[in-house]
Formats: sequence, C-alpha cells, structure tokens
Amino acid sequence: MSLLAIHTLGSPILREETQLVTAFDDDLRTLIADMFETMYAASGIGLAAPQVGRTERLTVVDVEGAKYAIVNPEIVFREGKDRAEEACLSMPELYGDVDRAKRVIVKALDGEGKPIEIHATGLLARCLQHEIDHLHGKLFIDYLSYLKRRAQLVKWEELRVEYPGNLRQLKAGAVTEPDGETM
Ligand code: NI
Repeated sequence: MSLLAIHTLGSPILREETQLVTAFDDDLRTLIADMFETMYAASGIGLAAPQVGRTERLTVVDVEGAKYAIVNPEIVFREGKDRAEEACLSMPELYGDVDRAKRVIVKALDGEGKPIEIHATGLLARCLQHEIDHLHGKLFIDYLSYLKRRAQLVKWEELRVEYPGNLRQLKAGAVTEPDGETM
C-alpha cells in the first residue's frame, strides 16, 4: 500500500466527470487499499478518486465504523433536509454549511463488483452525498452563497501556497485534522 497525494482546490481533475468502472481487478483493489490508507492518514471519513488524481467512479468512506468501497454509485432515493458544516480533504481549513438530504439510499458495486445498497442517515448520508458530488466534479463550496464562497476563496489564496502544484503530500502516521469529519 502507498500514500497518495491529495489534489487540492485548483487541480483541474477535481472538476472532471469520472468514468464508470468496468474492470474489478488487482489494479482496482490496490487503488481502493491506497485510498483507504490515504484517507486514514489525513483523518478523513471519505475520499473520492478524483481527489487522488484518478478518473475512476470510486469512493471510499468510513463513517463511525460504516466502512465501504463504493463503485459506480447512484443515489436512488433522498428524503428530508439537513444543514451542517462540511470540510473537504482537498480544501484544508475551508468550511461551510451545506444543505443535504437527511436520508439517502445509494446503489453501487463493491470493490469486487457485487451490488450493494446503502441506507444512510446523518453523517453517513452527508458523507455519501459529498463524495458522490466529487465523482461528478462538484465541491461543497459550490453550494455556498456568493459572499460565503468568496470569503472561503479569499482564505484559500493564502492557504494554497502550502500545496505546490495543487498537491497535498501526507506523512505516514501524522494526524493532520483532529476533528476527523473531513471528506
Ligand atoms: Ni471532499
């Protein structure tokens, strides 16, 4: 397994549409293992393939022990509304309140190509919606009002110098975000 560099805001791949996964092979298994390792090293609860510079329609999540590798996901049901603060591994130290569905059902495949259906509420539901957005080039800041988004982007102009080439290099064993709810 290896730690992958996380692409930060400004990297074009974060805005690209992903491609459906069709091969469930060793390459995919390695990518999934590396993504889990990278997510844990960054103290995240979710990580999507574009965040590590890949175009596969794939995300990994571990929300309070609900751990999934999720391939080609689709939200087939959403219900209710819930507003809470979000943070993203690709934009360290940016925050914003985002409205999400309170409850979702996601249909997907697991890392072996077997169909899975996830019934989620609360933080898991929020994390799944955030990650599936990543798979379609969408970021949480897109949901903020013009003024709030602008404030975060101004902040980012100072923060981004820490990430040359829009890449965030992690160090093994270093816990960088103690809040642990970054996705
Ligand atoms: Ni994110």
